[in-house]
Amino acid sequence: MDKKNETINLINERRTIRAYSSRKLTEEEINTIIHSAMRAPTAGNMMFYSIIQVKDQEMKEKLVKTCDNQPLIAKAPLVLLFLADVQRWWDYFKISNIDDQCEKEKNEFQTPQESDLLLASCDALIAAQNAVIGAEALGIGSCYIGDIMENYEVHREMFNLPRWVFPITLLCFGYPRGDKEKIPLTTRFPQKYIHFINRYESLTPEDFSDMLKNDPRNAQLKEGESLAHIAYFKKLTADYSIEMRRSVKAALKEWTAKE
Ligand SMILES: Cc1cc2nc3c(=O)[nH]c(=O)nc-3n(C[C@H](O)[C@H](O)[C@H](O)COP(=O)(O)O)c2cc1C
Repeated sequence: MDKKNETINLINERRTIRAYSSRKLTEEEINTIIHSAMRAPTAGNMMFYSIIQVKDQEMKEKLVKTCDNQPLIAKAPLVLLFLADVQRWWDYFKISNIDDQCEKEKNEFQTPQESDLLLASCDALIAAQNAVIGAEALGIGSCYIGDIMENYEVHREMFNLPRWVFPITLLCFGYPRGDKEKIPLTTRFPQKYIHFINRYESLTPEDFSDMLKNDPRNAQLKEGESLAHIAYFKKLTADYSIEMRRSVKAALKEWTAKE
């Protein structure tokens, strides 16, 4: 690997930053981050996403609670909400009388479906990651908040979201408090368990042992436990996971309901 390539180094050295210095971000920095997001690839160049900058401190405090009690949200100098958004295009279809034209041609006017949500989510997340890398290039750290998918009804009300807009991720940004190099880089599974050639490979029990043998989370294990116990009982069945499942199910039901 080329150790001199600045972009590759930036990607390799990034770590999630959850503690921010009090240094504010300038308007120019914020615009650079948003612009980085907007230069991301987007399906059909349709930009099936929107970004809400959460400036209001009370709203940030509320997000702390609705996103599984994560105080870093209220302390982050910049908070961006990334929305999977097909509403803009469907509003334009209506304004352009596409529904009338469909009726004249005896075609059913299609409202957004599951595939549109997935495609829009791809768009929004790819834009979000471009924002992360843009910020990183300015020395600004970031943290994703996946818990924004919880409490769908509250967030819809809070941000005035129409029906075909789904909050797919929240990003907190700020200059790192203290020396970011002191935050250890997280480990990853060995490449051979992630990168396959031509066809998918299911893992054997031996593969799992090998894949996880150096995982630092092993240190948390009690007698007789494996990482599966931690992943299932501490994460998947935790209150926040249960709420995320409920919330996304409710959002999907509304998204796909016939008008
Ligand atoms: C989709 C997604 C959701 C995440 N949600 C949270 C979150 O709610 N709170 C948090 O502190 N970190 C969150 N993270 C950050 C991960 O915990 C972090 O990326 C992971 O532990 C690896 O660490 P690294 O980014 O420093 O390599 C999230 C990351 C992703 C990609």
